[in-house]
Amino acid sequence: MGKALEGVRILDMTHVQSGPTCTQLLAWFGADVIKVERPGVGDATRGQLRDIPDVDSLYFTMLNHNKRSITLNTKSEKGKEIFTRLIEECDVMVENFAPGALDRMGFSWDRIQKINPRLIYASVKGFGPGPYQECKVYENVAQCTGGSASTTGFDDGPPLVTGAQIGDSGTGLNLALGIVTALFHREKSGRGQRVECAMQDGVLNLCRVKLRDQQRLAHGPLHEYPQYPNGTFGDATPRAGNASGGGQPGWVVKCKGWETDPNAYTYVIAQAAAFPGLAKVIGRADWLEDPEWNTPEARLPKLEALFHEIEKWTMTKDKFEVMEILNPLNVPCGPILSMKELAEEPSLRKTGTVVEVDHPTRGKYLTVGNPIKLSASPAEVKRSPLLGEHTEEILKKVLGFSDDEIKAAQSCGAVGDEHVTADALRLKSTSFG
Ligand SMILES: CC(C)(COP(=O)(O)OP(=O)(O)OC[C@H]1O[C@@H](n2cnc3c(N)ncnc32)[C@H](O)[C@@H]1OP(=O)(O)O)[C@@H](O)C(=O)NCCC(=O)NCCS
Repeated sequence: MGKALEGVRILDMTHVQSGPTCTQLLAWFGADVIKVERPGVGDATRGQLRDIPDVDSLYFTMLNHNKRSITLNTKSEKGKEIFTRLIEECDVMVENFAPGALDRMGFSWDRIQKINPRLIYASVKGFGPGPYQECKVYENVAQCTGGSASTTGFDDGPPLVTGAQIGDSGTGLNLALGIVTALFHREKSGRGQRVECAMQDGVLNLCRVKLRDQQRLAHGPLHEYPQYPNGTFGDATPRAGNASGGGQPGWVVKCKGWETDPNAYTYVIAQAAAFPGLAKVIGRADWLEDPEWNTPEARLPKLEALFHEIEKWTMTKDKFEVMEILNPLNVPCGPILSMKELAEEPSLRKTGTVVEVDHPTRGKYLTVGNPIKLSASPAEVKRSPLLGEHTEEILKKVLGFSDDEIKAAQSCGAVGDEHVTADALRLKSTSFG
């Protein structure tokens, strides 16, 4: 049996991160993803944060695996004609341009539906309908406007953005789910539909527990927050430092080597059920008999002191030793793993979560593979396409163009003539990871 999404053809008008992360997932599930890029220019990320001159950046390569690239000027007359043909031949169109860009090209939802009523048209925008709907948005803007930044960081410091791309890659995930759901619906209805995901909504969805806390605040201070009992609460969910978002107290504590290693830390959750084991292992068995410490309620106002005592013990062990000792005691904990450690972790290589890929002009590099594992449809990570690598192939095999028609489209500038032939690439490339 083939891949889960084999036979689904995606017209990929995405760029930067949010859209490409969605279409990359669909490609990993087996969809044929045709990435449309401007002739001679391409997705801006091809040239952003380049580590090797004149070579597609890691930014681009790590977000565009398993896709084909066609260069097409969708603003020229001939380009619009070809674009219309592509809409006819595809099941899904995905875009994350600034608001209105597709309408300005002349492709409104009404027109698209007329061209292909079965097409699913999926978009990412920064905001949904409302005062900011026309704004351009990047990751950190979404984190700031979606509730993440106001609730991240320490109480006495400024709002913080996180390293996880929750606005971009998070919204890309939402969009992929919307597309697959719409495809499922199309099986029954025979019709496509619009799928719209706003980055602000995506971030807010991931901050659900913080909206929960906003409402709890009306009924008194939030006991699990470090501000309790000595600090003050305002009228909005405050920043909680490293406190756990759930009902179990947790914190980041230092481990052996913290003076020189910025990641010699671990997260420990002092869950009630496992507390006796934790107290004993850190040398505080006395707490178990002490009414000042032996109930979760008694400990709640003293979490700072509690984690200080835990830290005195963790500082005598490295973060992996802490994990080895606490896990058998059912104490949830997690070492702070650096990107270097994750890149080198053999188990992640084995599961395909971290993959080495070969690229004809860049050579070998590491990427994050598909985080969603399907037993009957495992993802095989293939390198990203060079700009316009598949232009002729797509015109010929998807749209049925003759050689003369391809030449005519190239000579008027509707499609690019990058002339990267598959044969030339085969000579340069080795394996595809
Ligand atoms: C990401 C973002 C800020 C980038 O903005 P930008 O670099 O100015 O790019 P735009 O999306 O405005 O598109 C640039 C132009 O290129 C045009 N273009 C894109 N592909 C084209 C093609 N193949 N042929 C011809 N023109 C093309 C667009 O139509 C648009 O033209 P217009 O401004 O005349 O309408 C913006 O696209 C955006 O807000 N997107 C939605 C939210 C989002 O996904 N953000 C996360 C990005 S990770």
